[in-house]
Amino acid sequence: MNQEHKELPIGIFDSGVGGLTVYRALHDRLPNERFIYLGDTARVPYGTKSLATVERYALENSQFLTSRGIKMLVVACNTASALALPKIREAIGIDVVGVIGPGGRRAVEVAGSKGRIAVAATEATVLSNAYADAIRRASPDAELIQAECPLFVPLAEEGWTSEPETFSIAEKYLAGIRAFGPDALVLGCTHYPILRDVIQQTVGANVKLIDSGEATAVEVAELLEAKNLASATEPSGKRRLCDDLDHFFVTDAAERFGRIAERFLGSTPSKLEAVEVFGYDKLSKQ
Ligand code: DGL
Repeated sequence: MNQEHKELPIGIFDSGVGGLTVYRALHDRLPNERFIYLGDTARVPYGTKSLATVERYALENSQFLTSRGIKMLVVACNTASALALPKIREAIGIDVVGVIGPGGRRAVEVAGSKGRIAVAATEATVLSNAYADAIRRASPDAELIQAECPLFVPLAEEGWTSEPETFSIAEKYLAGIRAFGPDALVLGCTHYPILRDVIQQTVGANVKLIDSGEATAVEVAELLEAKNLASATEPSGKRRLCDDLDHFFVTDAAERFGRIAERFLGSTPSKLEAVEVFGYDKLSKQ
């Protein structure tokens, strides 16, 4: 692999701000790498949309990032990973990593091959059964339960991480999971790590929470090494989240994105731009 290619950034996209939890995990594990993040804030949420729509959005996002010059693409959005990975892989000629496979494999590692595993995710992710398939591929004997938790997304964005309303919604969504008595619970949506404490208290301290973003960062690091794609350039100073080595794009409401980034990460992107990605999926066909 030539040196110039190795020094390209890694692309990350999400339906909006939630993927910043995956960005943080990647940034922490890979200090030599630079990232380009796209949040499709104009069209969020993906979790309630159809397969055809999520595929189209995901292709436009992927082609936009590819056009900026990236060496690898991380699909941080669980819903887009669940529904659109095959189409993305077909369309772009670089390695694509989703969050479902790594999250599912990590859950089996933690719970054991005959473990009891719960998945909390958006409606579209649950209906796709993508986590169930990934977990069964890693262990056919795992026992499974899934729950849709759609209101967790706006609660995380509002920063309602310890309000009584959040606890009562969590109680309603997660009662079935608690009764199932899982060994591990996959946080199968980008926003759920923000509500980690509420979720942990609701399901009980003995349930191990799996952050798919962190599991993905581990697999991205391994893939970079295996493919000889890791950047060899050490940053001159200490890397900070959202510093000017990383570039953030949104499809709408950049100012709101900056505010939520501050809440999620404790810092606002130095480089943040609004872009239009509509029609990028057609570029490769011209
Ligand atoms: N990023 C989405 C996910 O991880 C959550 C928000 C949405 O529904 O778009 O599934």
